Amino acid sequence: MSQPMLLKSALSRVSILSSNRLIGPGLSRASFEAGNNRPTALSASFTSQDVSPGQPKLLVFGGRGFVGSNVCKEAVGMGLTVLGISRGGTPPLIHEPWVGAVEWARGNALEPQTFVRHLEGADAVVSCIGGFGTTEEMLKVNGAANVSLIEAAKAAGVKRFVFISAHIPNIPGIDAVLGGYIRGKQATEEALRTHFPTSGVALRPGVIYGDRVVSSTLTLPLGMAFKPLEMLIERMGIDQAKQFAGVPLVGAAFVPPVSVETVARVAVRAATDPSVPSGLIDVWELASKDKR
Ligand SMILES: NC(=O)c1ccc[n+]([C@@H]2O[C@H](COP(=O)([O-])OP(=O)(O)OC[C@H]3O[C@@H](n4cnc5c(N)ncnc54)[C@H](OP(=O)(O)O)[C@@H]3O)[C@@H](O)[C@H]2O)c1
Repeated sequence: MSQPMLLKSALSRVSILSSNRLIGPGLSRASFEAGNNRPTALSASFTSQDVSPGQPKLLVFGGRGFVGSNVCKEAVGMGLTVLGISRGGTPPLIHEPWVGAVEWARGNALEPQTFVRHLEGADAVVSCIGGFGTTEEMLKVNGAANVSLIEAAKAAGVKRFVFISAHIPNIPGIDAVLGGYIRGKQATEEALRTHFPTSGVALRPGVIYGDRVVSSTLTLPLGMAFKPLEMLIERMGIDQAKQFAGVPLVGAAFVPPVSVETVARVAVRAATDPSVPSGLIDVWELASKDKR
């Protein structure tokens, strides 16, 4: 994708992914299982000492993307064996030592024969596959690709599955523009609930900020753009921001952005720690885990 296209895509995410409407019928509860209390467990810090001997194997689909590369980095820091999978099979354009600690492999989530062998012996999968485009493209990349991956992971005996879903803004008419994105995420959350009812976790961030590597010479420091909003929400308090966020249209401005490092940390924790309950981790919970 060209740089202007990438920038457009990044900015479109900024404008749309911020409010508090929950995705999908039957998924608006905080967990896949009734009475499943959401985690005090996540507030404890996860160190490499928590990793069991034999180094758990983690597969990160979309591992060379913005979120996926940060998930790989976090997992390497935890001492896990990490396999980053994308359609090209190449490492991200990042010059940091952790990149060399990840095994990079080719795999298309829509074609199980291209990746099933990698699932063998995998303890957990984190899927960071998603994107925008036409309705059909969005359904495919946010839905079908992830559903195919979830089914294959289940069949291969993978223990835990984490999906980076999204918080959908409370904007009238959003369905007309983003119907494919929304329904794709719904379909994946549904598949996760079906196939990993006790060990599947979906994260629903709004805007994710951090350094997005666009090319070997261009990194977009998206964190700077969101700092004022982050400070405003911090000052008013999460509870009050949550109330404002319920207001159609303008409410979208009050949903907190979350750092890519926090999303990665919570995702790796959810993938590796059986004490993290299955279900949804919403934007508010993610924001409360953000290191400021
Ligand atoms: N960025 C945000 O602000 C934000 C906010 C809320 C939610 N999210 C969600 O977080 C997830 C990650 O977002 P991101 O910003 O990191 O996007 P990204 O940088 O575009 O990464 C998406 C990755 O998906 C991979 N992919 C697409 N189709 C695939 C397929 N069929 N098989 C294997 N890999 C495939 C791409 O890899 P290749 O093209 O190399 O194959 C790419 O690395 C998405 O689900 C997104 O909806 C993002």
